Amino acid sequence: MRALDVQDALVAVRMLAAHEWPLYRDLRLRALAEAPAAFGSTLAEEAARSDTDWAWRLNLGATSGRDLPLVAVVAGTAVGLAWTKVDAGDPLRVNLFQVWVAPQARGLGVAGALLDAALAWARGRGASTMQLGVVCGNEAARRLYERAGFRATGETEPQRPGSARMEQMMRLELSG
Ligand SMILES: CC(C)(COP(=O)(O)OP(=O)(O)OC[C@H]1O[C@@H](n2cnc3c(N)ncnc32)[C@H](O)[C@@H]1OP(=O)(O)O)[C@@H](O)C(=O)NCCC(=O)NCCS
Repeated sequence: MRALDVQDALVAVRMLAAHEWPLYRDLRLRALAEAPAAFGSTLAEEAARSDTDWAWRLNLGATSGRDLPLVAVVAGTAVGLAWTKVDAGDPLRVNLFQVWVAPQARGLGVAGALLDAALAWARGRGASTMQLGVVCGNEAARRLYERAGFRATGETEPQRPGSARMEQMMRLELSG
């Protein structure tokens, strides 16, 4: 993959529009191929989705008012992804999923910028808590979230049913 000169470039984070489902699909599949251990979904499951399904999925996310599908762009190239979603059982809680930054753009604050946008959205809609799961041993992700104020709750759960890999839950109180 072409090296990306992002040293002095600004990171732009914006919501994905419904028609951008091919971009969303490509970023998501790259994330699952590049960092399979970080995610509960598998590349095999996601790669099997039809284009209709990808379009439906992003259209729902872009129009529900309860989802925030985000893309990070540096020097005109999409390099990162995150999806924030209001919890189905608790309207004051938002969950963060699918955080990924392309390897050539890491360590430059791209994930921090995605997280800032997700937090601003959550605060703007009056949410009280943001929550996410991080695979135990994923130090880059854990430090990213800790720097933003998230703390491990002490709860762990299998990354997916039957998996030996465990996720630790992390939470940030947004009020105050
Ligand atoms: C975790 C990940 C999203 C971080 O993205 P990033 O854009 O490099 O992160 P940032 O540049 O915004 O860094 C924010 C903080 O993360 C931490 N961090 C980033 N890369 C790190 C690394 N390689 N090792 C340790 N900590 C790291 C640091 O605390 C950093 O803060 P600092 O700049 O004060 O040192 C990226 O490495 C990634 O996509 N990994 C694979 C997928 C993944 O693990 N997703 C998270 C699922 S919960």
